[in-house]
Amino acid sequence: MAPKKHTRFDLQKMKESKQTAVWITAYDYWTANFAEQAGMDMILVGDSLGMCVYGYSGTVPVTMDQCIWHSEAVRRGAPNTFVIGDMPFLSYQVSVPEAVRNAGRFHKEAGVDAIKLEGGTRVCPQIRAIADGGMLVMGHIGLTPQSSGQQGGFKAQGRTAAAAGEVIADARAIEEAGAYALLVEAVPPEVCGIIRRKLTIPVYSIGAGWEADGQLMICSDVLGIFQAFTPKFVKKYENLGQKTVEAFKQYAQDARSGAFPQEEHAYKMVEGELHKLEKSLEQ
Ligand code: KIV
Repeated sequence: MAPKKHTRFDLQKMKESKQTAVWITAYDYWTANFAEQAGMDMILVGDSLGMCVYGYSGTVPVTMDQCIWHSEAVRRGAPNTFVIGDMPFLSYQVSVPEAVRNAGRFHKEAGVDAIKLEGGTRVCPQIRAIADGGMLVMGHIGLTPQSSGQQGGFKAQGRTAAAAGEVIADARAIEEAGAYALLVEAVPPEVCGIIRRKLTIPVYSIGAGWEADGQLMICSDVLGIFQAFTPKFVKKYENLGQKTVEAFKQYAQDARSGAFPQEEHAYKMVEGELHKLEKSLEQ
């Protein structure tokens, strides 16, 4: 039987019953489908697709159209999983009305269940307006890749009392603004734990330790496909990059040596038709 898609209330209940929600990014039909088969609670169509799919060095170049196309594919691959669309750089920073319109595009064109956007207090007007527009918004604080220039690179956040205090203030403001959930990236576990206890909404971690209501990982990291760099918080469960190179090499070797294709890979002519063809070509 197909799994039943979670609602925000199911996710809220999971927090209250201390059941860890597990989610992963996906950018295409097949990965989404495998994630659904694996029983993921949620899927994020992250703007990390800029690095994992398009080979950019960061997420800043990613456009709304790219996010919509990939979200559409993920929706088709995982019709019974809660899907979150990630608002790319400049889709919500410029103005509140633009933020609402772009959040709406994710829902109208890609059928997502929620959207996520990066930033703390400074994006609260956008969070409030999108929530007032009837949509589910997830906040994202700590390391925020779209503003990694301001953060001095892809660096852990909240490691001093003052810095942690700012992250916690952002978390409170986001809940107050109407977000239904919060993602905390690359902060020490203790800081994530404090946020989780202070907030009533689910608080999820990517690289923020075990004191969270759920864990997110990037699919290309879990599978060992992304090779540019490996953040400290990543655990690789497979080495598909290496396996893919091996499979391609084997195919090339077989094709070059004549070991592929064989009888079982070829279509047969209808009985007697080859003879007829050869005869007709003699004339
Ligand atoms: O784009 C993404 O995958 C994300 C994660 C890094 C949290 O936002």
